[in-house]
Amino acid sequence: MALDFDSLPSAAKFAKQISDLVGMFKIGSQLFTAAGPAAVKEISSLGPGVFLDLKFHDIPNTVAGAVLSAAAMSGVQLMNVHALGGRAMLEAAVQAISAGVPMGADRPRLLAVTILTSMDQKSMRETGIGGPPKSRVVKLARLAKELGVDGVVASVQEARAIRKACGREFLIVTPAVRPDDKNGAASKHDDQTRTATPTEAIRAGADYLVVGRPILAAADPRAAAQAIVDEIAAAK
Ligand code: C5P
Repeated sequence: MALDFDSLPSAAKFAKQISDLVGMFKIGSQLFTAAGPAAVKEISSLGPGVFLDLKFHDIPNTVAGAVLSAAAMSGVQLMNVHALGGRAMLEAAVQAISAGVPMGADRPRLLAVTILTSMDQKSMRETGIGGPPKSRVVKLARLAKELGVDGVVASVQEARAIRKACGREFLIVTPAVRPDDKNGAASKHDDQTRTATPTEAIRAGADYLVVGRPILAAADPRAAAQAIVDEIAAAK
């Protein structure tokens, strides 16, 4: 569940209403910029772990420092950097994620964002990234795996190809999940372009589905979350 809120009280109030239905809470740049590590502390106390989605993308030394600080926060189970930061940056992140964790303790899993799910081929081309999204994404996933990253954030459309290239153990986290509405019509895409339903995500091999607005903007968020949980269970 993506907690895309502008303050910790509103995020916590919402999270408490659905904490028994979600596998993990995602704290992204909006909430973290507003509330900082206090958000991780309060949200992780609700039970489900925290995915700290800050998508670091900087020079290797700076990313290493940021990953070290993030990994030291208790309750963080998943965190991420941008694969487009390149080999040296990914290597620095992999080293840093284990560095601050005591021997024997669980460390957070490190994910690499491949290509944002809001981008399509045209917007990729405009930024100088050629070729179809799928081949770019699989190439970035292979690089991340080779360097010891635990998994990737990618769209459902690329999940099967990533699974094939990177194996069973590699984590695949898919945002841009949009359930069909009750009439079978695809629901609002918002700013996402490479979208898919929860059923499609599970069948394509996703380990975690990231859902924000389909639940946040629902008239009845608990019912919307429950419907997605049921759809996931039925698709397995
Ligand atoms: O509201 P919606 O379901 O589109 O939310 C998706 C969430 O996943 C947002 O918090 C967004 O930051 C995040 N995300 C994404 N695409 C990525 C990585 C993360 O949409 N590639």
